[in-house]
Amino acid sequence: MKSLISIMDLDERDINALMDTADDIVARPGAYAHKMAGKKLASLFFEPSTRTRLSFEAAMYELGGNVIGFSEAQSSSAAKGESVADTVKTVSCYADIIAMRHPKEGAPLVASQSATVPVINAGDGGHNHPTQTLADLFTIRREKGRVSGLTVGVCGDLKFGRTVHSLLEALSRYEGNRFVMVSPEELKVPSYVKQHLKNNHVPYTQTTDLSQALPELDVLYMTRVQKERFFNEADYIRLKDSYVLTPQKLEGAKGDLIIMHPLPRVNEISVAIDQDPRACYFKQVLNGKYMRMALILMMLEGEK
Ligand code: CP
Repeated sequence: MKSLISIMDLDERDINALMDTADDIVARPGAYAHKMAGKKLASLFFEPSTRTRLSFEAAMYELGGNVIGFSEAQSSSAAKGESVADTVKTVSCYADIIAMRHPKEGAPLVASQSATVPVINAGDGGHNHPTQTLADLFTIRREKGRVSGLTVGVCGDLKFGRTVHSLLEALSRYEGNRFVMVSPEELKVPSYVKQHLKNNHVPYTQTTDLSQALPELDVLYMTRVQKERFFNEADYIRLKDSYVLTPQKLEGAKGDLIIMHPLPRVNEISVAIDQDPRACYFKQVLNGKYMRMALILMMLEGEK
């Protein structure tokens, strides 16, 4: 695989192979400790990140490789007006693989057309976040034992929440999944994602009522309202606390529900829920590192 721009660049077999590799990394980390010796990852983050950037970097170090990069556009020559294309042509001279986050939708795709090394989309604007989806799928498989036959609720900012777009596309590849999409009217999932579900005959419903949806869910995927994508602060303030999950609200939920969130959390999940055995969002963080290790291996070594 040359680059990973969308989760749809991976087929079901690729995703299953990545999860198998990640399981093996969890079981036998020592066997992977030198696999990327002599290789370099460039982490080019034009937009803030804690988990994605640091987990890519931790992943490369744990594979025995090295990391170069920047964590904000202002500390790169983008601040002087350099194009994404010229930046990645340059970085291709220094690194074997690039992980790029950018506020503009499509920037990693543009980068992949100019880079001479593989590019991984680490989040592009309100569009896609395929490696978060790999973390999410691996978490679902480890917690539920499968990624099929599930009723999955996605809740919050479904318009700008790029992790949701990639997750819905990925889960629609697996049989028997259905989605309950919970959001304010203004933050419904974009039509291109709904079209994808329709084209693949994946059942879904849309609602504004989380409490009503909760009892039927196997997976609840909460998201924050994406402040940085709003043009109007008043709209953000009006919508930001549309859904706040509390222990009381969970009373009607299944005992084996899993509660997920790509993080960062603002106010969508009460910290009291962190102690609930159904809370999986910090497991997602750790699983993201293992899946990024598996992905780097697949892309640089073809290991499946
Ligand atoms: N989930 C996620 O993308 O987190 P960061 O923005 O901290 O990378």
